[in-house]
Amino acid sequence: NAGKLGQKLGYAVYVVGGFVRDVLLKHPNTDVDLVVEGDGIAFAAAMTREMGGRYKAHPKFKTAVVVLPSGQRVDVATARLEYYEYPAALPTVELSSIKMDLYRRDFTVNALAVHLSPDRYGELVDFFGAQRDIKDRVLRVLHSLSFVEDPTRIVRAIRFSERFGFRIGGQTDRLIKNAVRHSFFHRLSGSRVFHELQLILEEKTPLACLRRMHDYKLLAAIHPLLALTPPRETVLMEVENVINWYRLLYIEPQPQAWLVYFLALCSGMDAEQFAVVGKRLNFSKRTAGDIATLRMRIRETAQGLFNWEYHKGPLSELYFLMEPLPVEGALFLMARNPREPLQKYVSLYLTTLRGKRLEITGNDLKGIGIAPGPDYTSILRRVRGSVIDGHAPCRAEQ
Ligand code: CTP
Repeated sequence: NAGKLGQKLGYAVYVVGGFVRDVLLKHPNTDVDLVVEGDGIAFAAAMTREMGGRYKAHPKFKTAVVVLPSGQRVDVATARLEYYEYPAALPTVELSSIKMDLYRRDFTVNALAVHLSPDRYGELVDFFGAQRDIKDRVLRVLHSLSFVEDPTRIVRAIRFSERFGFRIGGQTDRLIKNAVRHSFFHRLSGSRVFHELQLILEEKTPLACLRRMHDYKLLAAIHPLLALTPPRETVLMEVENVINWYRLLYIEPQPQAWLVYFLALCSGMDAEQFAVVGKRLNFSKRTAGDIATLRMRIRETAQGLFNWEYHKGPLSELYFLMEPLPVEGALFLMARNPREPLQKYVSLYLTTLRGKRLEITGNDLKGIGIAPGPDYTSILRRVRGSVIDGHAPCRAEQ
């Protein structure tokens, strides 16, 4: 046990943050964060010596990530003893390092710790009234400079408040509004904003979070082009329906939900406007290129589908139209075209056609004497088309 190991090294060890919060809230959480009063990196090294696995140290931050043989990830941080100089000749005060570590965190509910040291094992450490806040279902910052220190916490406040059904406390709400008024958000790097936005879009109820961001004028603060307009809200609502529908099908791999929501948040933008947003969010060349290409492919596929429907093409044509489009694009197409036949056809592709596998391969063609060559692709394509149109058996039907 980590506490015993800490004792051997002379360190107190705590499990902290989201893990403790989620235990109290009975929410699943597998991310374990430890704080060590001592040398976190030495502790991580000792942990892997004792339990196996590996670790990676970040000496600059005195932190380490341990991956145990089970695959369990454990983040280890170091709490240092800090000395506070008080003015007016008061003596320097030594504060318990775990208290300082917790005080630097974002919300009271995230500033809980549990002792792992054998002599105090399981004792809850609650300096800031977190248990009361959990009982009252309220999210509160620990001090009034929290959002100045880190404006991404504004978005985190919304994310946690929606996830747990907590209200944002009165003082915290005023501090958020003040932070937005003073444009703290403009100081934030694009990558950090994008990361927070991605986390929001991976939540169970992204639209509710986006509405709250809109109410605090945060989306426009990130970039005016990202404002939550009524048509966008409609698309986002449909995305939520489609994503929930698709999740229930349990088709692997699951889509990157954030991407489908993000496409919806950028709906109505032309290529130039999208490039501006990508710049603000500091997209890498690759991300910018990938999403721009996806947007273009979605448009082309929609066009293709309308044509296909108009001339009543065979199902195989639907299959070949949809095949190159990543699933995120297909889901977006469904959300973008609700109550139109197109939605039905994309869903037919996703649930049925896509799963049809061919029993024959290039080797079978070779077996019947067709010489290997570029023809293989086109022959296999024709056979696949024929299978889809119902002229030959396929695995999914057997
Ligand atoms: N933290 C913070 N300010 C931030 C980000 C994180 O104070 N901008 C603190 C929080 O106290 C949090 C801890 O660092 O508990 C770990 O961060 P993270 O893993 O993002 O938080 P979780 O609460 O575990 O969030 P999630 O449940 O979404 O993983």
